[in-house]
Amino acid sequence: MKIGIYPGTFDPITHGHTDIITRSLRVFDKVVVALAPNPSKHPLFSLTERLEMIRVVMKDIQQVEVTHFDGLLVDYVQRYGAHAIIRGLRAISDFEHEFQMALINRKIAKQVETVFLMTSEEYSYLSSTIIKDVASHGGALTEFLHPEVARQLQERIRSLKT
Ligand code: COA
Repeated sequence: MKIGIYPGTFDPITHGHTDIITRSLRVFDKVVVALAPNPSKHPLFSLTERLEMIRVVMKDIQQVEVTHFDGLLVDYVQRYGAHAIIRGLRAISDFEHEFQMALINRKIAKQVETVFLMTSEEYSYLSSTIIKDVASHGGALTEFLHPEVARQLQERIRSLKT
């Protein structure tokens, strides 16, 4: 069974992430969506909230597992016995950062491969940060987020404003 690990911050999960996960299942038998530590980010949602939102979005897809890890991604990939890291590429601007991460990961663990999927055109402009900005200005979220994720984001923003 070919297993891919799709790591990220997912603050919150968007249709862009879902697109990568579902398309990865054409290549992998199972995709593990793994919430990763990223000390440079200050998430709006707690780890538990982000995990729960991903589980809601992925609830109908049997071949997806939702989890989290601490420490290095490559260590987690090897511990899990997965075959590759999955990353989405949205634009040329993603390339440099992704290239650097793939190379450092390979340097640390040369048997761990990274597989890149090009993001579908309609999501190429999306990021969790930009969606939080849209939400904070009262914009519609249906095109970008699962309805439950949109509801939670709107609620969180309302509570921060009061
Ligand atoms: N569609 C829409 N948005 C997408 C997307 C897609 N297909 N792919 C990525 N994004 C967005 C995310 O929403 C996120 O937006 P944000 O910056 O506004 O939050 C951004 O692109 C990229 O974030 P993400 O995919 O979550 O990755 P990251 O750069 O925050 O983290 C990790 C990368 C988690 C994989 C990396 O930090 C890691 O491996 N951490 C573990 C520690 C480790 O091993 N470090 C050494 C190797 S780097």
